Amino acid sequence: MKFETAATKNPIDQMKIVGQPVDRIDGPAKTTGTAPYAYERHDVVANQAYGCIVGSAIAKGKITSIDVSAAKAAPGVLAVVTYQNAGKLAKADSHTARLLAGPDVQHYDQAVAVVVAETFEQARSAAKLVRVRYDRQPGRYDLAHEVKNAKPPKPDEKDPKPPIQKLGDFDKAFAAAPVKLDQTYTTPDQSHAMMEPHASIAAWEGDKLTVWTANQMIDWAVRDLAKTFSIPKDRIRVVSPYVGGGFGAKLWIRSDALLAALGAKAAGRPVKVALARPQIANNTTHRPATIQHVRLATELDGRITAIAHESWSGNLPGGDPETAVDQTKLLYAGANRLTGMRLAVLDLPEGNAMRAPGEAPGLMALEIAMDEMAEKLGIDPIQFRILNDTQVDPMKPQRPFTQRRLVECMRIGADRFGWSRRNPTPGRVREGRLLIGMGMAAAFRNNLLMKSAARVRLDDRGFVIVETDMTDIGTGSYTVIAQTAAEVMEVPLDKVIVRLGDSSFPVSCGSGGQWGGNNACAGVYAACMKLKSQIAAGGERVAEDFIDYPKELAESQQQSTFGAHFVEVSVDGATSEIRVRRMLAVCAAGRILNPKSARSQVIGAMTMGVGAALMEELAVDTRPNYGFFVNHDLAGYEVPVHNDIPHQDVIFLDETDPLSSPMKAKGVGELGICGVSAAVANAIYNASGVRVRDYPITLDKIL
Ligand code: MOS
Repeated sequence: MKFETAATKNPIDQMKIVGQPVDRIDGPAKTTGTAPYAYERHDVVANQAYGCIVGSAIAKGKITSIDVSAAKAAPGVLAVVTYQNAGKLAKADSHTARLLAGPDVQHYDQAVAVVVAETFEQARSAAKLVRVRYDRQPGRYDLAHEVKNAKPPKPDEKDPKPPIQKLGDFDKAFAAAPVKLDQTYTTPDQSHAMMEPHASIAAWEGDKLTVWTANQMIDWAVRDLAKTFSIPKDRIRVVSPYVGGGFGAKLWIRSDALLAALGAKAAGRPVKVALARPQIANNTTHRPATIQHVRLATELDGRITAIAHESWSGNLPGGDPETAVDQTKLLYAGANRLTGMRLAVLDLPEGNAMRAPGEAPGLMALEIAMDEMAEKLGIDPIQFRILNDTQVDPMKPQRPFTQRRLVECMRIGADRFGWSRRNPTPGRVREGRLLIGMGMAAAFRNNLLMKSAARVRLDDRGFVIVETDMTDIGTGSYTVIAQTAAEVMEVPLDKVIVRLGDSSFPVSCGSGGQWGGNNACAGVYAACMKLKSQIAAGGERVAEDFIDYPKELAESQQQSTFGAHFVEVSVDGATSEIRVRRMLAVCAAGRILNPKSARSQVIGAMTMGVGAALMEELAVDTRPNYGFFVNHDLAGYEVPVHNDIPHQDVIFLDETDPLSSPMKAKGVGELGICGVSAAVANAIYNASGVRVRDYPITLDKIL
């Protein structure tokens, strides 16, 4: 189905089941242990052996020799695979760092071997006997130090936008302005820290490969395995029906999947591999650190005349920058603009997408800068943002937003949060020895349109069976898809069976970039509409269809999601201990397909934003011969828990966007994190009078 944009062409406008806060249909399975993750699939194939990955002990250099004799002679060992006996492997385009090193080593803990044994303990124990010798070379690990060597990244097919964009004359306008701000902010490397580690079971049947894994994008996984082994896609099946969190870490297959497949080939039987928690930080990907330079200039009345946002980040050769300036192109008005990204070569593990890549760290800087500027002007931070709202793309004024209710989000949030009780002078509100403060920030994240397909069948008992390779990474895909099918097929929700996460089903949009809910449901909608008309015409009771969007749609109008975050903190006047007391998010994101699961998404994202603000940081050992993330487990890499934030609330504006899809929905899973950390930082400033521009805001920075 080609998407018809006019609202009147959408036959179902008033939805009755979609939009209801129904419980997750996979909830009972999840809470009774009957929704197994990949590593737990003891049932799917017999005779499973265990693989244990050996990671590189150096960050950069060459393997000069590998001695596997002791490992091979160890009890229970079935095979040891290294680059020397793995056969020819092509590198998939999605990966900057190869999933199996050798002879070159690109980063610390890059896989150099997998040891396969009868039991997990035997594999782990034998893995310690693999002797690898290296020729170690000094690497570059310190972003601040490499800034001087950073260059604008080359635009590529994936991201053809020029890395440096200008409008008007920024320098001239900035020099002439009566009020200006010129500040630098930093964000650290971060780890996805999802609950379920990367894990896979691989089995070969002749030249056919099946991989049960934890993955967000099934079709990308098939594509990348096919490329790596140089075999056709139709010989590969990837299965991932339940995933314990992804946050971008599972957008692409990781070493567990490839090495399980290699181990299975070598051992001649199915092999399962999980990355142990301490391997994840360095073996997989992370959100790259940024250094961000923001300059704002306004008239005395607060209207922005010049806005510049430049970001520096690092990656392995061939890797991408963190696109931290993207939101600054679109969020506020201003005639003179400059945004730029520069990329330095770092020999750290591969930097890649983590929840709201670009906007999440970008808003960590921009939305503190907006708070600082409002203070300089003596204007309320909300008023300052309202003054600079824009209903069109500031870089292309002929291009409107399909919907933009940022101002409403801020006004409603201010009212509900009690913003009028905030004292604009920092450090004035006390409760005993606690200093209390409130902060806010705007939230912004683009809404992406992705092709998505599904197959729907009506069986003899009146059940509607939906099949699509869409994944549910904890987000609620099963439920919103069931609601969509129930709505269109006019059956009760419990008459819908949803099957996901299998490459034998039609190719969906997958879970990423907060595009999953809207686009996957739109694909199911298309298949249901086709089935319905087929049945009405007395035809077959099974139909497959997809949703696709005219290219002009994304070019002529800007689709984005908006929100406002409000945070109240206390800062202990004696110890500087920071506590988040209350949070509120107001989101404008099109039709909310299920207010309950959407609320959970936003609350999870707000919590992650608190982690980014106060705790999360992969500490880099920057010495030339080291170069790795030191805190590589959940004791050293802290994330917030329930008890850290006693009160969180979410309000969704009642809206539908007729240009976003037949569902008229958008994404919220990433919008929810965007701006949160800056709102926390701004609240800390309001409480304590200390402005911290380097995340995470640990108490030593307040003392
Ligand atoms: Mo998201 S970082 O595209 O899973």
